[in-house]
Amino acid sequence: MPSALWNGAGRPSWERMSFNDRTTPLDLLRTRRSGKPRDLAEPGPTLDQLHEMVAIAGRTPDHGKLFPWRFVIVPPEARDALATKLGEILMAEKDGCGPRDVEAAHQFATQAPALVVVLSAPVVGHKVPVWEQELSAGAACMNLLHAAHAMGFAGGWLTGWAAYSDAVRDLFGEAPQKIAGFVFIGTPSRRKYFSVASLSSISATTISPSRAVSVRRIRA
Ligand SMILES: Cc1cc2nc3c(=O)[nH]c(=O)nc-3n(C[C@H](O)[C@H](O)[C@H](O)COP(=O)(O)O)c2cc1C
Repeated sequence: MPSALWNGAGRPSWERMSFNDRTTPLDLLRTRRSGKPRDLAEPGPTLDQLHEMVAIAGRTPDHGKLFPWRFVIVPPEARDALATKLGEILMAEKDGCGPRDVEAAHQFATQAPALVVVLSAPVVGHKVPVWEQELSAGAACMNLLHAAHAMGFAGGWLTGWAAYSDAVRDLFGEAPQKIAGFVFIGTPSRRKYFSVASLSSISATTISPSRAVSVRRIRA
């Protein structure tokens, strides 16, 4: 039976869906869309709501129960200071930057009512590979978005140059941690449309015949 997302012709049924529809858990997952951080407006979540979102994100699958992620809630009163810091770091790290780049960094840091910085915080040298711990950090970002959406807000996950700057990372954590994402949260001020990957391009119900042969050979 076709789902709400896929009609009989295998195409998404756009009209019947609303963005982050909270009617049921499945509706919410089927209709998930990020909010564009620059279009996220007030009301944003309260500090208590942000703590609840982070607690939910902390339920992310994690091999070995290492908790290989950290969530830094940037308080509203620190957003301007963060903006100034990003501008300074940008000027120090990138040749040829000018006032427009500094302004863009300022806009980045101050967009949307709330900001949570998610850090990948792997336990290096543990038998659970760092790669798996980093995968868990990505999943934690996703769960943070799900929590925001389930609470009636929208979130947007961004990286950009700041996520790859050690100096920016040091504002929130320390090596070997990495910034997995800047997750901006607020209320969407614009309607969004759905774009979905075609099911056939992202899923398979069987392995190819040639692979099946090699799998049988391996098993034999
Ligand atoms: C690790 C990661 C980093 C991302 N960084 C950016 C970014 O810097 N800028 C951007 O426009 N979108 C970025 N995106 C994509 C958006 O978060 C979002 O997924 C995209 O706009 C598609 O919207 P949707 O989530 O509603 O499908 C990133 C996504 C991931 C998973």
